[in-house]
Amino acid sequence: MGLPAGERHFLDLGDAGADVIAAMIADAIDRKAARTVWPKGQADADAPLAGRVLALVFEKNSTRTRVSFDIAMRQLGGTVLILEAGSSQLGRGETIADTARVLSRMVDAIMLRTDDHAKIEEMARYASVPVINGLTDRSHPCQIVADLLTVIEHNKALPGLEIAWFGDGNNVLHSILEAAGLMRFNVRVATPKGYEPDREFVEMARAGGAQVMLTDDAQEAARGADVLVTDTWISMGQADAEEKRVAMAPYQVNGALMELANKDALFLHCLPAHVGEEVSHDVFESEKSVVFDEAENRIHAQKSVLLWSFGLLG
Ligand code: CP
Ligand code: NVA
Repeated sequence: MGLPAGERHFLDLGDAGADVIAAMIADAIDRKAARTVWPKGQADADAPLAGRVLALVFEKNSTRTRVSFDIAMRQLGGTVLILEAGSSQLGRGETIADTARVLSRMVDAIMLRTDDHAKIEEMARYASVPVINGLTDRSHPCQIVADLLTVIEHNKALPGLEIAWFGDGNNVLHSILEAAGLMRFNVRVATPKGYEPDREFVEMARAGGAQVMLTDDAQEAARGADVLVTDTWISMGQADAEEKRVAMAPYQVNGALMELANKDALFLHCLPAHVGEEVSHDVFESEKSVVFDEAENRIHAQKSVLLWSFGLLG
């Protein structure tokens, strides 16, 4: 049952591909629907990952990723253990390569949240079990599977969808752009000059057939958009520079910006949010805001990612 361990690393969305992402979303919808009234820690009827252990390795803070992977594994019948840099030998300089080889002897899969993307590539190179990206400075693919699930749940089809991003051209935007090329939706990116996303991700989206607008005009990006997305102006590990905050201020998603979007537009934010900075209080608390569905969907999306990693989906 399943592929040999280690063959299905999920470092970025392209590792799975469009068909698998579609299958992940479909499976997440089915599993979510099958357990609406069950206690959150109860295993799904088939408990497909019974006996499996996932290591959650954190070199950065987390609430959603940590809790949702834990609950996802419980619902799939498996268990997790949590390793934090500050309380493990990673924090004292043990190499990623050695950590990967040790953990591969002890657990069945590894999720890593780290800074430099090269570290997760090294983890995957040395691990003989599946490795999942729980966020790096470059990308956040698990978040985007949850985001796409959320959009679809709110009755929006992905092909041709107009998603608008406001603020910093960061890791979350990179994964949105990668997803756009795979799933054929369009992205309008409104950032101040100097804070654009990496060109590589823009090219990836365009190569896949997505239209990508790059602008420094937030209103231009919002006009006619179906989904408005933003994220913190200062990501983990970045300097909290006043200069950056000043540059970001015109990109706040607020009532005036939402007015320009389509009438049934949604607001997404991966959280944690800084209400009053990248999003206004009225938008964050409005009916258009589906940020807590999005947060819950991290569980359901990651169950699909885990099943794929273990060779049981797609
Ligand atoms: N969205 C997200 O990844 O949240 P955490 O940083 O709390 O895991
Ligand atoms: N861009 C943010 C996402 C947090 C989930 C960060 O990297 O800190």
